Amino acid sequence: MPRKKIALIGSGQIGGTLAHLVGLKELGDVVMFDIAEGIPQGKSLDIAESSPVSGFDAKLSGTNGYEEIKDADVCIVTAGVPRKPGMSRDDLIGINLKVMDQVGAGIKKYAPNAFVICITNPLDAMVWALQKSSGLPRNMVVGMAGVLDSARFRYFLADEFNVSVEDVTAFVLGGHGDDMVPLVRYSTVAGIPLPDLVKMGWTTQAKLDAIVDRTRKGGGEIVNLLKTGSAFYAPAASAIQMAESYLKDKKRVLPCAAYLSGEYGVKDLYVGVPCVIGEKGVERVVEISLAKPEQEMFKKSVDSVQGLVEACKKVSPDLA
Ligand code: APR
Repeated sequence: MPRKKIALIGSGQIGGTLAHLVGLKELGDVVMFDIAEGIPQGKSLDIAESSPVSGFDAKLSGTNGYEEIKDADVCIVTAGVPRKPGMSRDDLIGINLKVMDQVGAGIKKYAPNAFVICITNPLDAMVWALQKSSGLPRNMVVGMAGVLDSARFRYFLADEFNVSVEDVTAFVLGGHGDDMVPLVRYSTVAGIPLPDLVKMGWTTQAKLDAIVDRTRKGGGEIVNLLKTGSAFYAPAASAIQMAESYLKDKKRVLPCAAYLSGEYGVKDLYVGVPCVIGEKGVERVVEISLAKPEQEMFKKSVDSVQGLVEACKKVSPDLA
């Protein structure tokens, strides 16, 4: 059986970490793409040279030409520019929309059967634009945000309870922003919901609220520490979990930015919801019932995603 081919569109901080993880997990061969000459070539060679030591077999190559991604099984997109001081949200949207346009065209031409995972920010709008520009089926284009947000939530909870991260499950809904919706009652330690753990005296409501707040601002916390960039280890690990579920048809239930056509009362938008990821891409959107306050938080989050998409349509009316 030939190895799977994984194309990484964007070979910056996240792209490099993705390539390393694909190798270490032996998920397939890697093609790193970037517009910057030398970066994908240099990073792929460096990682390939680590393979005898780490003990993995994978071919890694770097390119500045889209033809090299031909017939990729998975494309993970991190291409774009980060928001810089003085740049408005709409400036960032304008620049990264153009990037999504180029990336979408490249994927459409060379890898139309791929499962595409978008990471570029502002995520919920960029994945929407990428699906439009690539023309790929909606179930095959998905955004990575929820796995990362819930990983942060799980990590903070495990630290608070002094238990293994593996025994903490967490649920996060909505857009990838400060108004994401961490669902406390669906988050558990070994199946025990968080509100019960408060009653059991494991933590206090105030501490739990602080953890929820820290989770919402998790991306900003890392940016403030790094100063010259944004998070990359956890985002890369999260996208790899989604790619692995697709490649191995694991049918993991993962929170992803998925295209909604009526689920949760939302239409023609990508919003973070629990999805089953298997060989057919997003095979199912899991629609859970929300309590009133959760519905309100979800609506607020959906409204800000809608705002981002409207800003995209203003910049690129042909996407509307
Ligand atoms: N085509 C391909 N690659 C591009 C293009 C383009 N049109 N424009 C920029 N790039 C490349 C840059 O050359 C750079 O190598 O995208 C890469 C982005 O890498 P970093 O700046 O290191 O960003 P990274 O930390 O990897 O994050 C990527 O994910 O979490 C989001 O907000 C983050 O949008 C950002 C993205």
